[in-house]
Amino acid sequence: METVVSGIRPTGNLHLGNYFGAIKNFIRMQEEYNCFFFIADYHSLTTHPTPQDLHGNVKQVLVEYLATGIDPEKATLYIQSDLPETAELYLLLNMNAYMGELERVTTFKEKARKQPNNVNAGLLTYPSLMAADIIIHKANKVPVGKDQEQHLEMTRTFARRFNRMYNTEFFPEPSAFNFGDNLIKIPGLDGSGKMGKSEGEGNAVFLAEDPKSIRKKIMRAVTDAGPAEPNAPKAEPIENLFSLLKVVSTQETVDYFEEQYNTCNIRYGDLKKQLAEDVIQFTTPLRERILEVAANEQYLSKVAKMGAEKARESSAKTVKEAREIIGFRSF
Ligand code: TYM
Repeated sequence: METVVSGIRPTGNLHLGNYFGAIKNFIRMQEEYNCFFFIADYHSLTTHPTPQDLHGNVKQVLVEYLATGIDPEKATLYIQSDLPETAELYLLLNMNAYMGELERVTTFKEKARKQPNNVNAGLLTYPSLMAADIIIHKANKVPVGKDQEQHLEMTRTFARRFNRMYNTEFFPEPSAFNFGDNLIKIPGLDGSGKMGKSEGEGNAVFLAEDPKSIRKKIMRAVTDAGPAEPNAPKAEPIENLFSLLKVVSTQETVDYFEEQYNTCNIRYGDLKKQLAEDVIQFTTPLRERILEVAANEQYLSKVAKMGAEKARESSAKTVKEAREIIGFRSF
């Protein structure tokens, strides 16, 4: 059976981008593959959270993973820092990761621009830590959104480099996976780019967000003056609203608003109202589940412990073998 690995950085509440870009696939994949889903808390240290924030955010992602339908009996659900083996493999991979290639990674360049006073080595070596997460379980498939494509390419580079260097086929070369479809990018509400927590308040809709706040955010989303002629191409902010509509609404609703747009009869207020109601319909059961799961501390602690044990079995085996291949042998 093929192995799947994927993770989410604990930086706050999960949003629709996380859900449709990644989690939706996790839920489907756990039925068919040997799955490892984790909370990437080592990675989140690159932005220097306080200990309280770090712990609270790890809990929040754990809760939301469970509330969305990840079943800890089917998939191995764990916290990255519960696996010190990941840190060791990261160290080993870093010996063959080069400054030039790390500096060229788009997310590194973006982060360096966004946090110029904190361009730490963890940011630079983010791709080798992510590669360690993936190849430590010898994964073949990685369900992620489009923004992670380049990281996956780096993972393949590191796996291939190790194999060549030691003349082995130890690590498979994993690929990003979305059940045969293109990887997804869910846009934000501010008219450009992607939905993301760090893109500013108002850009993301969270799974745990209350209806009133969702309506307010969506009604404020950026639009334009409307199409100038029938079948005009859509400006980016409008295209974005349609992309969101496509993931939460029925085909009928999408067709209706497409038709309205193409015949220059569109009223963006109506489109946004419909979008808000469909988002609310989608998130309401999740929000309720999130509150329920969050209240069950005992269950959370059981899940985290069970996940750590299962994940360590797999990671300890890989690291032990990698050490032998590299030449660390006991006397
Ligand atoms: P992170 O925490 O930024 O995002 C978690 C997952 O959500 C997806 N995602 C999106 N997909 C579509 N549209 C969006 N607007 C959107 N926003 C977020 C991301 O693509 C991702 O799948 N580096 C990773 C975490 C990570 C990881 C790994 C993932 C660490 N190690 C190993 C896979 C395998 C990250 O920062 O994701």
